[in-house]
Amino acid sequence: MLKGKKVILGITGSIAAYKAVYLLRLLVKTGADVQVIITPAGRKFITPVTLSALSGKPVLSEFFANNDGTWHSHVDLGLWADIMIVAPASANTMGKMVNAICDNLLITTYLSAKCPVLVAPAMDLDMFAHPANQRNIELLRSFGAQIVEPGTGELASGLEGKGRMEDPEVIVQRAVDLLESQKKKSLTGKKVLVTAGPTYENIDPVRFIGNYSSGKMGFAIARTLADFGAEVYLVAGPVGLSISHPLIKRTDVVSALEMEAACREFFPLCDAAVFSAAVADYAPAAVANDKLKRTDAEMTIRLKPNPDIAEGLGAKKKENQVTVGFALETSNGEVNALRKIEKKNFDFIVLNSPNKAEEGFMTDTNRITIIHKDHKKESFPLKSKKDVAVDIVTALEKILLK
Ligand code: C5P
Repeated sequence: MLKGKKVILGITGSIAAYKAVYLLRLLVKTGADVQVIITPAGRKFITPVTLSALSGKPVLSEFFANNDGTWHSHVDLGLWADIMIVAPASANTMGKMVNAICDNLLITTYLSAKCPVLVAPAMDLDMFAHPANQRNIELLRSFGAQIVEPGTGELASGLEGKGRMEDPEVIVQRAVDLLESQKKKSLTGKKVLVTAGPTYENIDPVRFIGNYSSGKMGFAIARTLADFGAEVYLVAGPVGLSISHPLIKRTDVVSALEMEAACREFFPLCDAAVFSAAVADYAPAAVANDKLKRTDAEMTIRLKPNPDIAEGLGAKKKENQVTVGFALETSNGEVNALRKIEKKNFDFIVLNSPNKAEEGFMTDTNRITIIHKDHKKESFPLKSKKDVAVDIVTALEKILLK
């Protein structure tokens, strides 16, 4: 993922410095060429021996090499790097970064760096929340750095709160995303709406009608679109998935009506929409205010149809807007898919089936056929949902860039 990328890993004086060892290992494992710079305070928490063994390079800390008068050029280091990651970033170091207080090599290198900068703060909850620290974080952002917000949990002080350095895996992913977002992408400037996951339709305060959609396919599409440079409006039903990308704006909804309202707001701003949500076709005609009581009698719930979001937006789509639908069919797949293209005015539809264990809902893999409105067909083998997403986004890209 970071193969051949030159990374400066800046480590500061924080208990979370021990996590930087694992972060360094992950960076090296993904193929990065890592130069560690540690602040004098950082050396009190971990020794350069471990860090140099893992990075395969001497760890830099002082301006001057031992006794021979040679010095470490922060200018050369700053220009060498493809990305600079400061993790953990103490309040002290962030304060120095924003005020150009150059009393150590990490700060001088930061000021000389031309590359993107990722900062992962770590400190006690009150320090983190202090307005002085928050102002420094905002200043860092305004200077172009990306902040990996700390997590909430147990802190070294024994207190609970926000201030834990984010996990090394997340920091690596953010570094990959940041480098990706620097490249000129084919869909830069395009905006795409993506619906994902199921909808839940309330019966009473504790029960609902739902379906087994996991949202994995839609989330993979959203991420791939963002990787291609598109700005994504992701409207997600209730799913247990997280996604973090600077180009993805996520809106969480529960019911079909909420999903429809969000889509109506975003679709007019968009060049395209991918409707991958499994929207409930019906909702209870009335939602009981109180929990329904069990009786021995049969029970009937009257249902009313939900709006068809794709059809409603497809009917008024502008000439240059492209829409993509999904058809999950248990039988007569192609006939039904073609019918849906007509009815919902899709440019193409992604046909898949829930009949096999490795396809459709809840799985990590899928086998799709793309059918275009001119009836042209492309069938793909079984792939991971990530790779399927690339096939779908590539088909969309061809239309958008025509
Ligand atoms: O008719 P069917 O539900 O199979 O159509 C599936 C396609 O229509 C999917 O793209 C789905 O996201 C979209 N759809 C929708 N609103 C609904 C039902 C389906 O947007 N109420």
